[in-house]
Amino acid sequence: MAEQERVWFNPFLPGFFNDPYPHYKQLSEEHPVQDHPLGFWFLSRYDDVLALLRAGQSVEIRNISDVPPAHPGATLDSGPGAAALSASMLDRDPPDHTRLRALVTKVFTRRAISALEPRITELVDRALDEMAERGSSDLVEQLAFPLPFAVISEMLGLPPVDNARIRDLSGTLVRSLEPVADEETAQAIFSAAVELQTLTRDLVAWKRANPADDLLTALIAAEHEGQVLNEDELVSQVVLLYVAGHETTVNLIANGTLALLRNPDQHALLRQRPDLTANAVEEFLRYDSPVQQTRRIMISPHEAGGLQIPRGAFVIACLAAANRDEKVFGPDADKLRLDRKEARHHLSFGGGPHHCLGAALARLEGQIAIGRMVQRFPDLALDGEIEVNNRINLRGLNKLPIKVHATV
Ligand code: HEM
Repeated sequence: MAEQERVWFNPFLPGFFNDPYPHYKQLSEEHPVQDHPLGFWFLSRYDDVLALLRAGQSVEIRNISDVPPAHPGATLDSGPGAAALSASMLDRDPPDHTRLRALVTKVFTRRAISALEPRITELVDRALDEMAERGSSDLVEQLAFPLPFAVISEMLGLPPVDNARIRDLSGTLVRSLEPVADEETAQAIFSAAVELQTLTRDLVAWKRANPADDLLTALIAAEHEGQVLNEDELVSQVVLLYVAGHETTVNLIANGTLALLRNPDQHALLRQRPDLTANAVEEFLRYDSPVQQTRRIMISPHEAGGLQIPRGAFVIACLAAANRDEKVFGPDADKLRLDRKEARHHLSFGGGPHHCLGAALARLEGQIAIGRMVQRFPDLALDGEIEVNNRINLRGLNKLPIKVHATV
């Protein structure tokens, strides 16, 4: 097939934001490893994506906007605050990555996460009470956004802050994870990042004066104990936890609920079999991944699908496409099946050294939120038009109108 006739990754195709999966399917069937004319490589098959994530020493993680030509003239790697911007573990390689991740892992333990169960349950039940009272509500506003936002704020031990402003800023900041941005968007991202850092520096100063038994106090202590976590790094890890803590789980809860409501047989199955809740959450993560792609820069050549990706190449690994790979998930990979045994093999939390640090927390929040909602509201139903967020990477909903009848 001539190069120009080949199918290329193109998020601007009509209908992509409503349903990107037919496009991903075509890519992975016809052109799974692409040296894209826009200057990046694009991988859409499970094995290729997983191999890249695990490639370890041969890949480097850098901010996406370093890479021309998708961002002519726009870079987040210069200007005031740039050091702090790129100091999060997500954008670092060993030895910095290893050191930063170890510090956060020490306080982000499985035990600490399990201990949150009663509090998460309380927050969910309170939101469900309100939904019952109202009858009709927007699930994103009522539960999917506020739950993870409250949980990560409480874990960090933050005082009540200007939620609306922070939501706005982090919504802009995560646009840096999109594969394309124009100059104006890149500037907006940069300003949001600088403002979030300034807010976070103030919060750190406040926490130094008001230490408590929380994540932020523990991170500050790590800095104090001379474990070489400098101020920029501290601020960056807090921003990362804060943003990653809610910008992703909101999509798990909203996309998962939508998938359920569009598949009444699966909705009925979950109502009858609450024991399937944990597996159902894995299937929601697989079926409509809250983070659709991640990226790497090769520091040595890498083979994928029989092609040599050269040193210096910028590579997008499409987690969402990999999650629909029929070789791994079977011929019905495009179907939602809550009892799917292989569901947990999804790549929605990435893989290799950067595997999501918050996976256990996200799972717990998803299980409690969706599990309790489904059991409490047998008549949970869509109540109008949904609004998709039109993001290529952190795919989710701005609005999910639902209705319920008050029950117990
Ligand atoms: C990394 C997805 C929730 C904290 C990642 C990565 C993915 C991901 C794909 C790897 C990125 C890469 O390899 O380039 C998700 C999804 C979530 C979720 C789908 C919810 C459904 C959370 C939560 C937190 C969190 C709740 C923390 C409160 C992190 C951190 C990293 C990370 C700190 C960086 C790890 C590293 O670089 O070593 N996440 N995440 N995530 N996630 Fe999550």
